[in-house]
Amino acid sequence: MAATIIDGKAFAARVRAQVAGQVARLTSEHGITPGLAVVLVGEDPASQVYVRSKGKMTIEVGMASFEHRLPETATEGELLDLVDCLNKDDQVHGILVQLPLPDHLNSNLVINAIDPAKDVDGFHISNVGRLGTGQNAMVPCTPLGCLLMLRDTHGSLSGLDAVVIGRSNIVGKPMFNLLLGESCTVTVAHSRTKDLPKVVRRADIVVAAVGRPNMVKGNWIKPGATVIDVGINRIDAPERGEGKTRLVGDVEFDSAAQVAGAITPVPGGVGPMTIACLLANTLTACCRANGLPEPEGLTV
Ligand code: GUN
Repeated sequence: MAATIIDGKAFAARVRAQVAGQVARLTSEHGITPGLAVVLVGEDPASQVYVRSKGKMTIEVGMASFEHRLPETATEGELLDLVDCLNKDDQVHGILVQLPLPDHLNSNLVINAIDPAKDVDGFHISNVGRLGTGQNAMVPCTPLGCLLMLRDTHGSLSGLDAVVIGRSNIVGKPMFNLLLGESCTVTVAHSRTKDLPKVVRRADIVVAAVGRPNMVKGNWIKPGATVIDVGINRIDAPERGEGKTRLVGDVEFDSAAQVAGAITPVPGGVGPMTIACLLANTLTACCRANGLPEPEGLTV
């Protein structure tokens, strides 16, 4: 039986519509407009695309978008001064410093200078600690998007066996904490894991976030399992013509879709959820800052 395809694009559009509805209510009932500031240092082409897309969607949901661009040569002091300014700005409820930063800047130092209440990436050490200890944190956007899709697919996740492949600070580790918080039995697998196929085969939920194209094979998947593919890998696609490329996930989609109960495609799965969750986090930060109830279903 073929798996249900989890349509991340449609899901993300629903999340953004929900956020837009709440933003409209905040503005009309309380005179508050949530604001998101995005800081880009340097000229990295991929980062420029992400930042433009974030700004566009922020405006589409009715929020205020503040974009700050610093040259590649910016000093740590200049960047920290900007972060300090944004921390103090009442119009700004969320701050995102686009990563990667140029090599001469210390990302941890900069991220930990953001007011944790405005850290919509959930990367500040205080939010990492809050998530790990079950206190209301800002949750990193990609794992939050994965969790919302899993909840939508399963309802309760309690007691399910979950495997997270990848132990990054941005996806693997927060995903572990989120799934544990849902009362899953969670294994975190990584490059040194022995017999990964065996570990994956026992999982009701597989979250793949390793950045290796088509690494997880269909015959590793337990029949009926839910597969969330976080990987976005560009590979050569000579079948499309000379020099052409295409995007694939960390999971071999065609074979996995024969076995899984539900699976996210690449593209159009987890990817669109990341910005939707960034907007949801900005709304959450704004509600918390103003002592208002948090948006339902968009937090943990
Ligand atoms: N660069 C790529 N993804 C992200 C993200 O989620 N947050 C930030 N700050 N930078 C990124």
